[in-house]
Amino acid sequence: MAEARQKWGTKLGIILAVAGSAVGLGNFLRFPVQAAQNGGGAFLIPYFISFVLLGIPLMWIEWAIGRHGGLFGHGSAPLILNRLWKNRLAKYLGVVGVFGPIVIFLYYTYIESWLLGYAFFSLTGQLFKAITPEAMKGFLSAYQGLAPGSNLATAYLFFFVTFLINFYFIYRGIQGGIELLCKIAMPILFFFGFILAARVLMIPNIIDGLGFLWNPDFSVLTSAKVWMAAAGQIFFTLSVGIGVILTYASYLKKGDDVALSGLTAASTNELAEVVLGGTIVIPAAFVFFGAAGATAAAASGAFNLGFVTMPLIFGQIDFGGFFALLWFALLFLAGITSSVSLLAPAVAFFSDDFGLTRKKAVLWLGGILFILCQFPVFFLGRGVVDELDFWGGTFSLVLFGTIETIIFVWFFGIEKAWDEIHSGAEMRIPGFYKPIIRYVTPVFLLLILGFWFFQQGLPVIMMQGVAEANKPYVLATRIGLILLFISIALAVRIAYYRKKRAGELE
Ligand code: ALA
Repeated sequence: MAEARQKWGTKLGIILAVAGSAVGLGNFLRFPVQAAQNGGGAFLIPYFISFVLLGIPLMWIEWAIGRHGGLFGHGSAPLILNRLWKNRLAKYLGVVGVFGPIVIFLYYTYIESWLLGYAFFSLTGQLFKAITPEAMKGFLSAYQGLAPGSNLATAYLFFFVTFLINFYFIYRGIQGGIELLCKIAMPILFFFGFILAARVLMIPNIIDGLGFLWNPDFSVLTSAKVWMAAAGQIFFTLSVGIGVILTYASYLKKGDDVALSGLTAASTNELAEVVLGGTIVIPAAFVFFGAAGATAAAASGAFNLGFVTMPLIFGQIDFGGFFALLWFALLFLAGITSSVSLLAPAVAFFSDDFGLTRKKAVLWLGGILFILCQFPVFFLGRGVVDELDFWGGTFSLVLFGTIETIIFVWFFGIEKAWDEIHSGAEMRIPGFYKPIIRYVTPVFLLLILGFWFFQQGLPVIMMQGVAEANKPYVLATRIGLILLFISIALAVRIAYYRKKRAGELE
């Protein structure tokens, strides 16, 4: 007999779990970098437009699709999409919603483990021996095993511990694992975030730093690049289009609300992103390093900001070790509540549809993913992480967001979709959202997909900008990803025909 599907313990539990998946490194590192590079305050205009036209509709769509699939015993995209659209293609399109999050997991866990390592070094004070940007960068590359004469032993230990912690919570299941983790981690994360934001706001002249980030440069609004950056940030930060929210929602009960819950989770993410994420790093970098330093820090990307600029700032303030510990602990909690969600679709697929027990599915996936994770760990300097990030963290999101939206509102049908979103709802969604979900969101998504393909996709496919020495590694990663995709598609095919023969797809 099949196992009974798991359920969330409380409504707050699932909202915190979805918010936990959404609030991640994207809020505290990626968002400020994007805002600083794309017009400061003016970035908020395309950002909020994308939030309203893409983010919120996708939240509702994924919650509604997931809850619908859960009623049939499915918890991942392939067989849920097959329920919504009776076409043999549907299940294969759904493979993207299992493949994408696995690919993100492969490198996300490793980066998350650096945070645990840096929290430890903040505690021991080792981090503050480096007092110049060069020394701090040197510390990071030695940790990553990229500096001459360095090795990966310490980083590997923290990676191993992080991997085990992730699997511990995943193995314990929805209510006893993921819900428990998010109920504890999310309040702590917000508490640490408010303390850090308050500390930054007490820095003399911080108002100039806030002005540096938030003074609008409206001329950027005519640039397509800025609009793409804003839409991309909305996807990444809300965790929509990945496939994980759909899985989380599949553990809801029939009459549970999705409309208000989805909106609450999205708003919680925005609080963490715009208020906390927008207050901490860039304004502080401006005060300590000036306009040129802050610009250079933002241009050097999210990692440098988190692992180089911030420790240098903490090294200069009173009780810096304590605040650094809060910072890295906050990021680690933000990371782990996101990474446990990334495996949820695969675990759901193998246990709901492929016929493994949940625990067996977790153990098998754990073994296979541990092996696959070795590639980003050992070949970080070879472009492997960038390649995984492009296919998993950028392309799959938009592709899957487009697929699920079109199938739900056009093939399943807008009237049924609208009713599905409102079933059990604790709020009435304003009527103007109906044409938005029906036309604006899908057209916006198709435009983004097209633009991204030509602007970023083609150069990536042609490996433009990849160092000659790294090309074999990038190519090997790509072949590995294709094999992974095919393997999941084959597993989906097996699951589908097995269920069909057993008459379970009627
Ligand atoms: N949504 C997650 C983040 O912002 C992935 O990092």
